[in-house]
Amino acid sequence: MARIIGGLGTSHVPSIAAAIDKGLADTPDWKPLFDGYIPAKQWVADHKPDIAVVIFNDHGNAFFLDKIPTLAVGVADRYRPTDEGWGPRPVPDFIGAQDFSWHLVDTMVADHFDPLVCMELDVDHGLQVPMELFFGRPEAWPTKIVPILVNTIQYPIPTPQRMWQLGQTLRRAIESWDTDETVAILGTGGLSHQLQGSRAGFINAAADQAWLADIGPNPQKYRDMTREDFVETFGSEGAELIMWLVMRAAMNDTVRTVHSHYYSPASMTGTGMVVLENEGG
Ligand code: DHB
Ligand code: FE
Repeated sequence: MARIIGGLGTSHVPSIAAAIDKGLADTPDWKPLFDGYIPAKQWVADHKPDIAVVIFNDHGNAFFLDKIPTLAVGVADRYRPTDEGWGPRPVPDFIGAQDFSWHLVDTMVADHFDPLVCMELDVDHGLQVPMELFFGRPEAWPTKIVPILVNTIQYPIPTPQRMWQLGQTLRRAIESWDTDETVAILGTGGLSHQLQGSRAGFINAAADQAWLADIGPNPQKYRDMTREDFVETFGSEGAELIMWLVMRAAMNDTVRTVHSHYYSPASMTGTGMVVLENEGG
């Protein structure tokens, strides 16, 4: 059976992509952020996952506010990186783990999830940036991907509890996938930020650091939070963090936090990362 080898959580701030493209990664503003990812990149290079399941939100690029699925899954064999207005990025196309995507959709529907199934999909910074942070900028991606898209853009967003259930279903899909492939699960988004309204610019560094410390050993408090609690604590866009719960729920009850890093602010966002490995059963 396929096997989960790690849970990776990271912010997906788009200015990180711009910093890479403009060659700013070694400048004083950006170096501390990129240096923090070096051990995580090494972990990925050492563990070489066959498949990366990436849970992220589209930001008005693949879908717009006229049609916005609460949950969607890519089943394509190839995904193009979206041009978000600054021109095409020198990022290779992502190759889909198409057979596993269909198996995941099948498992989800059997478990009473009803995703939008995407045979064509362009993927924005929500997926591009995490892949670049963990895999660098290879000529071709060494790992196939499965995109899972969650609406965190427009009310009503799904509940943290539903995200947890989705993670449990994702785990069942992986553990019933009859190959010896290894899977890393990437939960993306956050940390605290609010890009709109009277709290624009809001960052909650204390809550961000608690999140990074507790998401591995003590996820229960986040499972119990409401959507409103997420918005209150992390900001309206910081509520993207519900997507890390999918990753965490797919892991064992007991995990080891092998790497974590926090840097704030990147753009207007608290930026964080964890690498989790399973312990026990
Ligand atoms: C920004 C956008 C995002 O999607 C995000 O997760 C964090 C920051 C931004 O535009 O600054
Ligand atoms: Fe985002």
